[in-house]
Amino acid sequence: MCLTIPAKIKKLNNGQVEIDLRGRDRVVSNNLRLPLKVGDWVLCVNDYVFKKINNTEANELLMLLGTGPKTGSSLKINQTVLNKSDIISWLALEKREEIKALYDTAYNTKLSSLPEHICIHGIIEFSNYCINNCTYCGLRRDNKKVVRYRMSVAQIIQAAKTAMKKNYKVFVLQSGEDPYYDEEKLLQIISGIKKLGRVFIYLSIGDRDLKLYEKLFAAGARGVLMRFETSNKKLYATLHPGENFTNKLELIKKLKNIGYQISTGFMIGLPGQTTADIADDLLLLQELKPFMVSFGPFIPSNNTPLAKALLVDEEMILKTIAVARLLLPQAMIPITTAAETIAKGGANDIRRRAFAAGANAVMFNQTPKRFRDNYYIYENKFFDRQKSYERLGLFTGDFSYQMMEELGLEI
Ligand code: 5AD
Ligand code: SF4
Repeated sequence: MCLTIPAKIKKLNNGQVEIDLRGRDRVVSNNLRLPLKVGDWVLCVNDYVFKKINNTEANELLMLLGTGPKTGSSLKINQTVLNKSDIISWLALEKREEIKALYDTAYNTKLSSLPEHICIHGIIEFSNYCINNCTYCGLRRDNKKVVRYRMSVAQIIQAAKTAMKKNYKVFVLQSGEDPYYDEEKLLQIISGIKKLGRVFIYLSIGDRDLKLYEKLFAAGARGVLMRFETSNKKLYATLHPGENFTNKLELIKKLKNIGYQISTGFMIGLPGQTTADIADDLLLLQELKPFMVSFGPFIPSNNTPLAKALLVDEEMILKTIAVARLLLPQAMIPITTAAETIAKGGANDIRRRAFAAGANAVMFNQTPKRFRDNYYIYENKFFDRQKSYERLGLFTGDFSYQMMEELGLEI
């Protein structure tokens, strides 16, 4: 399911429809022969009008998605060679108009590389047990204050079923690294969900055996979400006692070789992380070419060794999104829960600003209420019902599969 930007009809001419799409003129066709008139609000797919909507729906969509820049004041960039020093200087921009130029350039890159859609993903956090001790994370094994839970196989499948009724078709199944979910259970979960209908499943279950990942792929899982967290090897080692960056990177590459679509990325604003580190993280992302990137701000979390660290500036998240869009014009770039959590102006505000800076996806929590609050990576984790997104979501039938295939997701 996804949302798309409403356009207003300016002129009708022999099946050709001239529309105003956020201040830009475009010509599309009326293949579906909808009864249209000048002034109508419509939603377009590729080059044709897909659906007519009323004023209220159009305003609601514009409120959710923002209008984007009308004309793009652009940075002078050569997109084929983006070097580290350019990236550092963009991340360090301070003047309003320069930052805006960066966002506008990223936005224009998005418009010219991808269909105009905001993809909606669902995430089910099925266990908060973790054998690891990452210093930043509230779910680390040494945090005894967390109320731990594990959803049963049946509960996980039921959560997916509930979300599918709301038209979710792309899921992330996430947990701490929890070997309680062995091969048998994981296979039951995946085949149980796949039996419900055509959905795309990302696994976010940590460093498990490659053979296991192969079997899960054979059972129908198609994506893995695994962040490399930071490409600074020293910083990686201090954040992950007993682990090393090279192994993590190798694992991500091997998972890609199995055939998984990869979603990977890093945290922004880790203590000790420099702007140059973030530039390296972004360049690594470009090298890995993930289908979906995954990054968000580090949020100091109570009862962890990094509880007293500082929170990154919100603008840095948006700049990182914009540079990621320049480096990876066709990637799925979601605005993640951590950014929604720290946004001073609220979740809708940061989402709109993220979409205007090149993001094109959202990730909504589908964990059942009784478990949700205990998935305590950090405090006050953002959650709302996202009802308007779900209500206005497009392509809820077969069409959504076509759209996903167009984006490169095969189910
Ligand atoms: N702040 C932000 N993100 C965090 N994660 C873990 N702890 C934090 C935190 N304190 C992220 C990690 C991990 C993902 C599941 O959650 O990047 O990969
Ligand atoms: Fe476990 Fe993931 Fe948290 Fe690390 S970040 S402690 S692996 S849940």
